[in-house]
Amino acid sequence: MEKREKIYEGKAKQLFTTDDADLLVQYFKDEATAFDGKKKGIIEEKGVLNNKISSRIFTMLEEKGVKTHFVKRLSDREMLVRRLRIIPVEVVIRNVAAGSLCKRLGLEEGTPLKEPTLELFYKSDPLGDPMINESLAKVFGWATDSELGQMKESAFKINRILSEFFNERGIILVDFKLEFGEHKGQVLLGDEITPDGCRLWDKSTLEKMDKDRFRRDLGKVEEAYREVLRKVME
Ligand code: TMP
Ligand code: ASP
Repeated sequence: MEKREKIYEGKAKQLFTTDDADLLVQYFKDEATAFDGKKKGIIEEKGVLNNKISSRIFTMLEEKGVKTHFVKRLSDREMLVRRLRIIPVEVVIRNVAAGSLCKRLGLEEGTPLKEPTLELFYKSDPLGDPMINESLAKVFGWATDSELGQMKESAFKINRILSEFFNERGIILVDFKLEFGEHKGQVLLGDEITPDGCRLWDKSTLEKMDKDRFRRDLGKVEEAYREVLRKVME
């Protein structure tokens, strides 16, 4: 698949057109950012690791009936994806309290939630992805009622599948962020599923195996991503 023009560059990825108008190449970089880009760094080989992790997870989700943008992995840092019109609403699912939820509600990190919760954020770098709700998403035309319904249903289904998948591999899926987009009238899961956008804790030691190691300067960041790759390939 021939890579043509770069049409998007985000904090961790680039998107290129191909000779097929419906397909794009998604390229994974090593750059890491946190706190709305205020903290910047490089995680060695992150692009390669995240491309492999995401390809494995998207393949598994497709096998279980989740519609995603993933077509195939092309190379170390590239995957072929369906072209989406991105819906600028990020969906966060949580199983255990951590991160911004703890800050907002004064909870202790690790507090179990009695059922999974869903939060919505407006995808906007200049605004720092503010938290929104369904009503705001509809009023401002970021997503329709039908799209929100499909996104919520898909997000909870993905949570059930991924929680079990990680649990079988000795990892707790604490929380994660999803992005969706529209392709030929269908709502598909887009973006990536990697330790950049998930919190993953070792079930026995509760050690963090995700981007919190970078955010909080815990060290052994690449090692943690490598271990996640090893486990998801089991
Ligand atoms: P939070 O605790 O910072 O709200 O994040 C919850 C989860 O979603 C965590 O696994 C990180 C992920 N996330 C992103 O990857 N990007 C984002 O912009 C947001 C808001 C969350
Ligand atoms: N992806 C968001 C950012 O770069 C949130 C984070 O990872 O801290 O700010």
